[in-house]
Amino acid sequence: MIVQNETETLSWAEQFAKTLKQGSVVAISGNLGAGKTVISRGICKALGFKGTVCSPTYTIVHEYPNTPPLYHLDLYRLSHVEDLEEIGWDQFVTSEGITLIEWPERLGENTLGITHWIEVQILSENQRKITVSEWNPLQKSVLRQK
Ligand SMILES: Nc1ncnc2c1ncn2[C@@H]1O[C@H](COP(=O)(O)OP(=O)(O)OP(=O)(O)O)[C@@H](O)[C@H]1O
Ligand SMILES: [Mg+2]
Repeated sequence: MIVQNETETLSWAEQFAKTLKQGSVVAISGNLGAGKTVISRGICKALGFKGTVCSPTYTIVHEYPNTPPLYHLDLYRLSHVEDLEEIGWDQFVTSEGITLIEWPERLGENTLGITHWIEVQILSENQRKITVSEWNPLQKSVLRQK
C-alpha cells in the first residue's frame, strides 16, 4: 500500500485495526520518522482510545486505559535482549490486550507471539510504502503477504 501523507497513513491504520483481535501483537518496523507512531495512533484511535499516543522512547512501555487494554512499546532503547525480561515481555505476548511494538528489530530471535508485522518504507518526504505480513505465532513464519 502506498500512502501520500500522514492523513492517509492514519486512515490506513484505522482500517488495519479492524483486523486485530484481543491478544494481537503488532510489530511496526521502519526507520526513524517513518511513521510508526502515526500508525500506532491510528490503531489506538480505531480501538476506542481517546487520549494521547506518543513514542514511549524513554519509558519503553505505555499502557493506555482502554477496552481492550492497549500496550505501546518502543524498543529503540533496549540494548540487550535480556532486558526484555525486565520490561515484562512475556506479559504482553500472553495478554488479552493489544500490543503495538515500535523497533521490533530489537527483539532479535524473540519474535514468538507476534501476530502481525508491519513494514513502513520511506519513499519520499511524505510518501510511504506499508506492507503487512500476518505471522503464525507458533511457527514464526510469514503466512500471507498483503
Ligand atoms: N505518509 C506519512 N505517514 C506518516 N508520517 C508521515 C508521512 N509523511 C510525513 N510524515 C511525517 O513523518 C513523521 C513520522 O513520525 P513518527 O513519530 O510517526 O515516526 P516513527 O517511525 O514513530 O519514528 P521513531 O523511530 O522516532 O519513533 C511525522 O512528522 C509525520 O508528520
Ligand atoms: Mg515512534
